[in-house]
Amino acid sequence: MAEKRPDRSFPLVGTALVTGASSGLGRHYAEFLARAGLDVILVARRTEDLHELADVISQQYGRSATVLPTDLTDRPARQAMVEEVDSRGLRVDVLINNAGFGTQGEFATMDPDRIIREIELNCVALTDLTRHFLPGMLERRHGAVINVASTAGFQPWPTMSVYGASKSYVRSFSQALWWETRNTGVRVLSVCPGPTDTDWMANTGSPGMLPRRRTPEQVVQSTFRALNRDALEVIDGPMNRLTSFAASVVPTRVVLPIARLWAKE
Ligand SMILES: NC(=O)c1ccc[n+]([C@@H]2O[C@H](COP(=O)([O-])OP(=O)(O)OC[C@H]3O[C@@H](n4cnc5c(N)ncnc54)[C@H](OP(=O)(O)O)[C@@H]3O)[C@@H](O)[C@H]2O)c1
Repeated sequence: MAEKRPDRSFPLVGTALVTGASSGLGRHYAEFLARAGLDVILVARRTEDLHELADVISQQYGRSATVLPTDLTDRPARQAMVEEVDSRGLRVDVLINNAGFGTQGEFATMDPDRIIREIELNCVALTDLTRHFLPGMLERRHGAVINVASTAGFQPWPTMSVYGASKSYVRSFSQALWWETRNTGVRVLSVCPGPTDTDWMANTGSPGMLPRRRTPEQVVQSTFRALNRDALEVIDGPMNRLTSFAASVVPTRVVLPIARLWAKE
């Protein structure tokens, strides 16, 4: 008789904190988790959009949704947000570090302030929130940290240089934590979407970039399937898996001009 595979599915219970919940992937993650029965903490800057989502979550799924409008690039504001979570006695079982943005252009002409904010959001805030919430998860021997990286993290990306580098950081950081947390009851997952139909392109400054896109629903599905098998990383979609694999094995000098073309409208 064939041996039965152990059930490694991750029990989705408790409360999830989702950053970047006001639109795109973050909104879809929050709705998915509420539908699965979790309470949610919604974090982003656009207060009205967060409240509108909180209403949907409480009315349609009967879950509690706490809105904490925060500019995550602002360190004191970020600290105040985590203190608010703790002081309200909210226990974060699933942390989705999803907020992020990119900047298109030649590096030497990029707005210096925007570059710093990009690194602060994509890398520093993600690291800071993980450092804050991971110890509690480890103590309780249950939890998940889901860090949204990108297929952009598989190769340097000319004219999206800071973004590509920031997503390489997310991949490397998350994979190291996956190993550190193995056998603890806590899972850490790096999620690599390719082009996905959200406001991301418009916010990057290039609304027409990468027109062949997958849906946010597909990315969310890939994420939780991967979490259930305790994957180290998930790349959403077969074409994205193929291009990411190719980018990892083809010499960087060959990949660079191809990657440059991806950022063209
Ligand atoms: N769409 C794609 O093609 C794609 C591909 C690979 C990876 N990704 C990654 O997926 C993640 C989600 O992006 P998306 O596609 O859903 O794009 P999006 O619709 O532009 O969502 C970005 C989210 O981040 C939040 N955010 C931006 N700056 C913030 C700040 N300073 N403080 C707090 N929140 C902030 C935004 O909310 P507010 O404006 O309300 O603050 C928004 O909710 C990002 O990390 C992105 O890099 C996207």
